[in-house]
Amino acid sequence: MKSSITQIFRMSLPLIVAPLGGGPTTPELVIASCEAGALGSVAGAYLSPEELKKSIEKVKAATTRAFAVNLFVPTANPSLTPEQIDRAIRATTGFRQELDLPTPQVKPPYHQNFDWQFEVVMQAKPAAFSFVFGLLDREYLQECRKRGILTMGAVTTLEEAHLLAESGVDFIVAQGIEAGGHRALFEATSEDEEAPTADLVSMIVNEIPLPVIASGGIMTSGQIQEMLSIGAQAVQMGTAFLLCKEAGTSRAYREALKMGSNDRIKSTRAFSGRLARGIENRFMREIDQRPESILPFPVQNAFTKDIRTKSSQLDLPEFLSLWAGSGVQYVQSDISAIDIITQLKRELRG
Ligand SMILES: Cc1cc2nc3c(=O)[nH]c(=O)nc-3n(C[C@H](O)[C@H](O)[C@H](O)COP(=O)(O)O)c2cc1C
Repeated sequence: MKSSITQIFRMSLPLIVAPLGGGPTTPELVIASCEAGALGSVAGAYLSPEELKKSIEKVKAATTRAFAVNLFVPTANPSLTPEQIDRAIRATTGFRQELDLPTPQVKPPYHQNFDWQFEVVMQAKPAAFSFVFGLLDREYLQECRKRGILTMGAVTTLEEAHLLAESGVDFIVAQGIEAGGHRALFEATSEDEEAPTADLVSMIVNEIPLPVIASGGIMTSGQIQEMLSIGAQAVQMGTAFLLCKEAGTSRAYREALKMGSNDRIKSTRAFSGRLARGIENRFMREIDQRPESILPFPVQNAFTKDIRTKSSQLDLPEFLSLWAGSGVQYVQSDISAIDIITQLKRELRG
């Protein structure tokens, strides 16, 4: 069971509990993951620098174990035409009427300030810094190295893996098509090659001499073994933890997950403008039929936030982003993350 990643982060099994941005990751989930022997991840991307600082402080106050902090590589604000904005507003007016919401203004900022978030991470000095959505400029990686923070970037293709390796990261997270949540594609507008996790891991391991972390659709100890046997040093699991007690997953989202199955998982740009995978619902179906109405990432994400927030408050799963991977039918509910990890550990040792 020992691999260099487990030794470096003093984990008792080769498991990273994925950053689950937008609510499911809580400091309690990170703490439970670390205390049980995995590497927990603070999902920082949607948090303000102050919120991020507080989350990290909470984790540090409760555990001395290693953890990671995760952010999105910043995207430049796209320029928009009045027609584009008009189309987006018209496509979502029906949803806003149903939810009794006013039409929002479409204006920046569309995301948190990356440099301020990054500064919080540098001050906090977690054991690892993980990122998605492309390459980070060299000076950011150098800042991490100076502080002894190991870096992990995510990829969906062999080509992205080569670029990431050349940029100087320490670990590659290979995200296969089975994964829940946003696709880690470097370019928001690229076509998705949809490589399955096992294929992607094998290709990267064969060509790139960096430790690879397999991610996407992994739910069982058998699947962890399989990924290790093809050369992954560890796995990163997200969906498996969405229903655990420590997760901040909303009630409506939890109910949808309990009824979720692989054949209902679809890729969509409807919520954020970037491809992401989750359980299909009415919002996805209707907006995906009008692709010309979808604003570019991250504008669409900011633009649909009011709809997601209100539907979460009203327990309406049809308008929520129900991110989930293809292993959704195997999610265990009403269980602690500690129990999930302990069970995996026992099975891996057995
Ligand atoms: C609800 C949800 C939120 C996610 N948020 C993030 C995130 O903020 N940052 C990130 O790097 N990955 C995020 N991911 C993707 C995970 O890192 C990982 O690739 C994925 O969960 C693996 O597939 P699995 O869900 O089938 O285990 C998210 C996934 C889910 C399901």
